Amino acid sequence: MNINSFPQVKVNDDFASHIEDNLGGRFSNISKKTNPKYLYDYEGSRLFEQICLQPEYYLTRAEIEILNNFSTEIASLFKDFNQIAIIELGSGSSTKTRILLQHFVNMRNTKQLYYFPVDLSNSILKEAINKLPNEFPSIEILAIHSDYIQGIRLVEDVILSKDIGATESFNKLVIFLGSSIGNFEPNEASVFLRQIRSSIGNNASNKFLIGFDLHKDAEILEAAYNDRKGITAKFNLNILARINRELGGEFDLDTFYHSAFYNFMKGRVEMHLVSKIDQNIKINNLGKTVTFKKGESIHTENSYKYSIDQIRELAQNSGFKVEKNFTDKNDWFDLVLLSAI
Ligand code: AVJ
Repeated sequence: MNINSFPQVKVNDDFASHIEDNLGGRFSNISKKTNPKYLYDYEGSRLFEQICLQPEYYLTRAEIEILNNFSTEIASLFKDFNQIAIIELGSGSSTKTRILLQHFVNMRNTKQLYYFPVDLSNSILKEAINKLPNEFPSIEILAIHSDYIQGIRLVEDVILSKDIGATESFNKLVIFLGSSIGNFEPNEASVFLRQIRSSIGNNASNKFLIGFDLHKDAEILEAAYNDRKGITAKFNLNILARINRELGGEFDLDTFYHSAFYNFMKGRVEMHLVSKIDQNIKINNLGKTVTFKKGESIHTENSYKYSIDQIRELAQNSGFKVEKNFTDKNDWFDLVLLSAI
């Protein structure tokens, strides 16, 4: 049985209607915002990978340190199981995940290991699954081109349709690295965790491994989202470039600047694109013109930070218990292992 041969599952994700609804037309004065998931087209995903290499962006390094230190411990929780499915939400290039996968492979008594990377960027996924099978010949890999929640459902469908066995006979490890949870509003985070909770069921051997960025000095946080090379600025501005590419937009990227700051009251880093001038911008494919006043912004992302207590509370409210907090040496990042209560 080879599930590599299974085609990628494509899910329609309507960028056009999102922009139409959230940027507002000429007569609209709604505050402008875009969902951060739209930052990750091919270009955006590439830029994000560069962000991860910037010296100011401590998150990736901290998480890699944690994975290097604790992957053996995490993998060993699954050592007695015959069929293991690792489902990764927002897998990107799967760089960090390779550390974990390697430790699973190193456990000799694993009978069958499946890896389901789920990502919104088709091209990034393709790149990942072009390389991964050679690096991990013993792992069955199936890429799922989808958003997270649909992705989890699709994984269930694939497991069932390929007759791999009842989904209950699988031990699942769902992973959500990089503190992508920070993009959710707190109430959305709770809904999301509950969805994961229901997908892993009541079996306490199934685990959810999720990365949270922890609260810290505003200076450190703000530096991470304002790197000196301007990669984060480019990443942010890419949403306008994407509107130009895909929707016939006429944004002049030079008339906007990147702004990122720590909102202490809300416990989050906010990212905005601020118009330097009064302007009207055509988005041809939508047949719309969007107006900006000088200083008006598009709110493109929130990145919520958590405390250990907030994480425990969020977990408990969603039917999980915290089995372990794995942190880096600075206590800047927390990779949390959850299981069903
Ligand atoms: C992918 C959501 C974890 O919030 O740190 C990085 C995205 N935005 N720099 C983050 C991001 C600007 C990143 N997450």
